Amino acid sequence: VEERIARVEELIGTHSDFPKPGINFKDIFPVMKNAEVFQDCISLLTEHVEHLTTPVDAIVGLDARGFIFGPLMAQRLNIPFIPVRKAGKLPGETIKYSYQLEYGSDTFEIQKSAVHCRQRVVIVDDLLATGGTMKAAAMLLKSLGAEVVECMVVIELTSLKGRDKVPAPLYSMIQYHDI
Ligand code: PRP
Repeated sequence: VEERIARVEELIGTHSDFPKPGINFKDIFPVMKNAEVFQDCISLLTEHVEHLTTPVDAIVGLDARGFIFGPLMAQRLNIPFIPVRKAGKLPGETIKYSYQLEYGSDTFEIQKSAVHCRQRVVIVDDLLATGGTMKAAAMLLKSLGAEVVECMVVIELTSLKGRDKVPAPLYSMIQYHDI
């Protein structure tokens, strides 16, 4: 597994001062340019879910890059995919949660009909920085009565201590300690 994760890590790009000065941006898209490594990245995430002791009923993906990983995982696991979107994009009855970002602030939204009480979900996103995004998603799911079995990210920027903010177990595939 370590060797497979290392192949994913090799393809992650770093861009300093993007989108603002002082931010070291980790770019996941080069992973997707390599079909074999991208497929294996999805396999690694999927296998992690399969090895959880609690059975998982649905995968929740976060706008925007969680929408790349989440549906592919859900398809492999043959379970539903549920989107959490930036506010103003979802029709019907919704609930919202505002959060601070590494750069700025934002509001997340989910349809009330998206989950049912006690549904066991895993939340996935590309990256955990300050943890505000993942926390907001977990809070939305919890307030609809779902059980957040685990939060998953491909990349964790450990020095920002986002993990401490997330109100559920957190799994990261790759950790960067120096940004
Ligand atoms: C990035 C990333 C995570 C979030 C992590 O998304 O994809 O969703 O930031 O940051 P945090 O842990 O400090 O909250 P971004 O907000 O840039 O939005 P995007 O997905 O629409 O590009």
